[in-house]
Amino acid sequence: MVGKQGSNRPLTPKIELRHVYKIFGDQPRGRALELAKAGVPKDEVQALTQHVVGLSDVTFGVEDGEIFVVMGLSGSGKSTAIRTVNRLHSVTDGEVVVDGTHVQSLHGRALQAFRRQKMGMVFQHFALFPHRSVIANVGYGLKVQGVGRWEREQAALSALSLVGLDRYAGSMPSQLSGGMQQRVGLARALASDPDILLMDEAFSALDPLIRRQMQDEMLAIQARLHKTILFITHDLNEALRIGDRVCIMKDGAVVQIGTPQEILTQPGDAYVAEFVQDVDQGRVITVADVMAEPRPVVPGATLGQAMRALGERAGAFVLDASGAPTAVLTAPDGIRVAGLGGDDLAAALRTDFERCGPEQTLNEVYAAAGRGLPIAVVDTHGRLVGNLDPREIMAELGRVETLIDAFDRKEVAP
Ligand SMILES: Nc1ncnc2c1ncn2[C@@H]1O[C@H](COP(=O)(O)OP(=O)(O)OP(=O)(O)O)[C@@H](O)[C@H]1O
Ligand SMILES: [Mg+2]
Repeated sequence: MVGKQGSNRPLTPKIELRHVYKIFGDQPRGRALELAKAGVPKDEVQALTQHVVGLSDVTFGVEDGEIFVVMGLSGSGKSTAIRTVNRLHSVTDGEVVVDGTHVQSLHGRALQAFRRQKMGMVFQHFALFPHRSVIANVGYGLKVQGVGRWEREQAALSALSLVGLDRYAGSMPSQLSGGMQQRVGLARALASDPDILLMDEAFSALDPLIRRQMQDEMLAIQARLHKTILFITHDLNEALRIGDRVCIMKDGAVVQIGTPQEILTQPGDAYVAEFVQDVDQGRVITVADVMAEPRPVVPGATLGQAMRALGERAGAFVLDASGAPTAVLTAPDGIRVAGLGGDDLAAALRTDFERCGPEQTLNEVYAAAGRGLPIAVVDTHGRLVGNLDPREIMAELGRVETLIDAFDRKEVAP
């Protein structure tokens, strides 16, 4: 998950859906659209008009170089949304703009060229040509574009090496495992070096271990190539793992868009909260999200003064002249020394505390927190920037369940 957050995003999205509606049926622009625009839910529109609302007022922007994940249950409109981007679907209303081009305006050769040059696509069941070698499969798109053989094979080989399959260039698809075939699919999408990758459930058919490997490989490739990736999945764990931002859809509409942290810590409504309860949050919540202010021990304080300043906190750090923590005072140590009649702060200090960085995830510091001591959160110069109470980690990991209870009791406005 390196390099996922905090990038300065440009202002114009690479892919933009603006108030997009897609109605399936004989008269898509008729009453069904009118009702959908009035905010009537999908099932009611269907009951009233026998038309299916595929997308309802969908607006999102995918920025250059970002992995944007659309996530939702089956039938929520994910595939419909991605298909409006390459115009496999025309939209009933609204606009789709890719790199400044209004996709709806494209037809014939212009549309063909747009698809081939701008975007690579990977789908769940990626069909490779069984009678062509791996390298021929990967270079196929280029062949269609009229690229010469030598150039094609160079491009195909370098795409294959990106996915770690260059040694299999001469193999036939049937000689590869399912995961390897899916990687060939990814290589095929990468071979023409498109700016945009459209991936619809690209890893969903793979078993969990292979799937995780593919996610890691994709993140590694992305760190090198900085493509703009629109990725569809029904798996929230996958969405949170690979997405810079995640868009959650339900019944054709967008429910929430946010970073993985935002989705987890501030679920937009009960629907999102419910999804989120199954997720391993320790993987996405960072130390910075839960740490408290440093509030170090005041220089020269006696034990009594330091203990009073401690209050309910698990501990406070003593800093050196540069602001780096050198020791920690915890409540139990302070009480023990005071109980023996002492007021010497130094006698109550311990130096065997742990340090971590603000960007680390809760899972990474979980073991350190198990000792029960406060953890010093330090910057790259070793200076104290936060105080992490081990109790906070447990509290945070249990927080979303509490949120869901609150939604159920209607204590939190959705
Ligand atoms: N060609 C079509 N004709 C009629 N209805 C369609 C068509 N394509 C999609 N739909 C309907 O549009 C809605 C959204 O379908 P879509 O395929 O986008 O869902 P999805 O989120 O991709 O689901 P899945 O996870 O199952 O792939 C569904 O109600 C579906 O039945
Ligand atoms: Mg789909």
